[in-house]
Amino acid sequence: MRVINTIREMQPISKELRRDGKKIGFVPTMGALHEGHLSLVDQAKRRSDIVVMSIFVNPSQFGRGEDFEKYPRDIEKDRRMAEVRGVDYVFAPNEREMYPEDPLTFVEVQKVSQLLEGEFRPGHFKGVTTIVAKLFNVVMPDLAVFGQKDAQQAFIIKEMVKDLNFDIEIVVAPIVRETDGLAMSSRNVFLSIDERKSATVLFRSLKLAESMIVSGETNLIKVRGAMVKLINKESDGKIDYVSFVDPISFERVEDSSFLKEVLALLAVRFGETRLIDNTAVRVHRNLE
Ligand code: PAJ
Repeated sequence: MRVINTIREMQPISKELRRDGKKIGFVPTMGALHEGHLSLVDQAKRRSDIVVMSIFVNPSQFGRGEDFEKYPRDIEKDRRMAEVRGVDYVFAPNEREMYPEDPLTFVEVQKVSQLLEGEFRPGHFKGVTTIVAKLFNVVMPDLAVFGQKDAQQAFIIKEMVKDLNFDIEIVVAPIVRETDGLAMSSRNVFLSIDERKSATVLFRSLKLAESMIVSGETNLIKVRGAMVKLINKESDGKIDYVSFVDPISFERVEDSSFLKEVLALLAVRFGETRLIDNTAVRVHRNLE
C-alpha cells in the first residue's frame, strides 16, 4: 500500500491505472477508521481492481463551535488498518494541499442540504459536496462507496453526481453496528461510560419505529412521539430531530400510507457528542 500526500502525485497514478484498464474504487473518509469504514473498503474491493481511500478531516464541513479541532486523528493507526484490509492507495493530503487559499468555487446541492442535518449544521453539506467533488477530480474513480450511516449525505452525493454528470457509480453500504446496536462512528470515542450506555437508546428507538410501522401504524407523528418518549425516558440525550422521509425524494413525510419504504432518521446529543442514526423500514400493506 502507498500513502500519497499530494494532488500532483495522485492524479498521474490514477490516470495511469485508468490507462491500464484498471477500475478504481474510492472510499472517502476523515480517518479514525473503524469497522464501518472498512466495510466500505470491502465493498469497493468487490467491485473494482484498485482501492483508493482518502483520509482528510475536511475543515469546510465543520461549523463554528463544532469538533474540528478535537476530531480524532491517528494516521499511523489508520494506515495500518487500511493496509490490512487491502487498500492500495491512501490519499492523505494536508489542509494546505486541498485548500491552498480561500476558494471562490463551491458545490452546493440545493433544498435537501437545508433539511435535517442541514438545519442543525448550516453549511455542512456545502463543505461535504465541495470536498467530495474535489476528491473525485483528484482520484478519478470509476466508483465511490458511501455509508448509509450518513443517509442524507449519500443522497446528496448521488444528487450531485447526477446533476453534474460525474461519470462515477455511487454505491451505498449498510450501517455497521456494535453488538448492542450503536452505529459505529469516529465520534463514539468521545462518549463517557454512562453516555455510551445511554446511546444504545438510539437503536432501540429505531427498532421501535420499525415494529410500529411494520405492524401497520401509518401515522408517523405517533411513531415519532413513541420514539421521543423512549429516548427521553431511557437517556439524558438531547434530541435535535427525529424525522421521517421518503427515501426516493428525501422529503419529509408524516404518513406512510402511500409509501413502499420510510426512512427514520435521528440526531441526538449526549453531552458534547452529537450522534446520528437511521433505519429504512419497508411498509407492509394488505392492499390485495
Ligand atoms: P466519515 O465520517 O469518516 O465517514 C466516511 C464514510 O464512512 C462515509 O461514507 C460514512 O457514511 C461511512 N461510515 C461511517 N460510519 C459508518 C458505519 N457505522 N457503517 C457504515 N458506514 C459508515 O462522511 C465523511 O467522513 C465525510 O463527510 C466525507 C464523505 C469523507 C467528506 O469529507
